[in-house]
Amino acid sequence: MAPTRTLQDVVFVDGVRTPFGRAGDKGHYAQTRADDLMVKVIRELMRRHPELPPDRVDEVGIAAATQTGDQGLTIGRTAAILAGLPRSVPGFAIDRMCAGAMTAVTTVASGIAVGAYDVAIAGGVEHMGHHPMGAGADPNPRFVADRLVDPEALDMGNTAENLHDKYPQLTKDRADAYGAASQHKYAAALAAGKISPDLVPVATRSAEQGWGLAVADEPPRPDTSVRGLANLKTPFRPHGRVTAGTSSPLTDGATGCLLATAEVAEELGLPIKMRMVGFAFAGVDPEIMGTGPIPATEKALTKAGLTMDDIGLIEINEAFAVQVLAFTSHFGLADDDPRLNQYGGAIAVGHPLASSGVRLMTQLARQFAERPDVRYGITTMCVGLGMGGTVIWENPHFGDGAAR
Ligand SMILES: CC(C)(COP(=O)(O)OP(=O)(O)OC[C@H]1O[C@@H](n2cnc3c(N)ncnc32)[C@H](O)[C@@H]1OP(=O)(O)O)[C@@H](O)C(=O)NCCC(=O)NCCS
Repeated sequence: MAPTRTLQDVVFVDGVRTPFGRAGDKGHYAQTRADDLMVKVIRELMRRHPELPPDRVDEVGIAAATQTGDQGLTIGRTAAILAGLPRSVPGFAIDRMCAGAMTAVTTVASGIAVGAYDVAIAGGVEHMGHHPMGAGADPNPRFVADRLVDPEALDMGNTAENLHDKYPQLTKDRADAYGAASQHKYAAALAAGKISPDLVPVATRSAEQGWGLAVADEPPRPDTSVRGLANLKTPFRPHGRVTAGTSSPLTDGATGCLLATAEVAEELGLPIKMRMVGFAFAGVDPEIMGTGPIPATEKALTKAGLTMDDIGLIEINEAFAVQVLAFTSHFGLADDDPRLNQYGGAIAVGHPLASSGVRLMTQLARQFAERPDVRYGITTMCVGLGMGGTVIWENPHFGDGAAR
């Protein structure tokens, strides 16, 4: 008789990330390898958890949207070896563009749930300076020849402009106000000490400037004002509505987290910061890829038997302001709903594509600890070529002290 199987509860133990750098010649990490950023994150997770014997890690799943050069050669395995994990610990590389790290999390979580892994590392890295978006890709000519996808949909900024066209009520003014608010919320969170604890400093080297230490995020522009955003150029379309102030900037960075079965976390004395409730991915027209979080969230909520009213905290990736506004207006939330991106978002902190999903989770975990009145939260993001992903999490601190 086949052995019986019980599904395991999956918990988020901890997450860390590198400070995010501006992509390009002048950024923190211009001369730092992408895989070294990932290694630093894995080493920091292990350093923060001496109670976890390294040989108890059963898998290392790492995402990168471009899997060549210093992000190539199966980065989950290379980064695990370089980080000094035992050779017995396997690793893999995974890609779902912007939702790479989110997919690494849901993939290893599925392995944990069926009992294949006890403890796993999931994360992502993107050095957009070394790997410009889409570099080296060779899209099949049938996309265009058979009119499967508008070629302009391969440029994410154009898809954001398409959203302004589709939803005229999502005006440039509203997007500018949202972009400025993201910067201000990030600055307030930084000043309140809510960002830095999740960062691991990274030593950097530059042929011109010598050694350095990246300790803080480089992309934020705390002096942003709505008025200052009004007249920025619209790089994606002449007389368009999307600007650098309402887009996530090009960014370098890496993130990672530890996931485990609830039982093994308790056995080893690992903290439990979040419990996974469920997740869903969904597809939409590539031309309006920014709407992806809408069906993904609806699907995840339905599967979990929850509604948006049950969700007390939302971490949504801000690829573009208009795309977040499409999400909030669909669910009847105000543009400045206090549940949304309390620490600001990718417009301020940056969006190193395949790594961002775990930044959202790490921030949600920190907010859960502060908010025992909140039971459920979501992390959600849009994905190129028309997709969205949403993970629903439960707060293990719910009910500690105050009732909801
Ligand atoms: C929008 C984008 C093209 C801008 O790139 P860039 O021109 O290199 O960006 P910069 O930081 O130089 O900003 C452009 C200008 O806006 C200004 N600016 C940017 N953000 C600003 C802010 N918050 N407040 C005031 N000015 C701002 C800059 O100072 C700069 O001004 P300048 O031209 O006078 O020097 C780029 O960030 C981008 O492609 N983002 C989207 C990335 C993406 O698609 N990710 C995937 C999502 S699915």
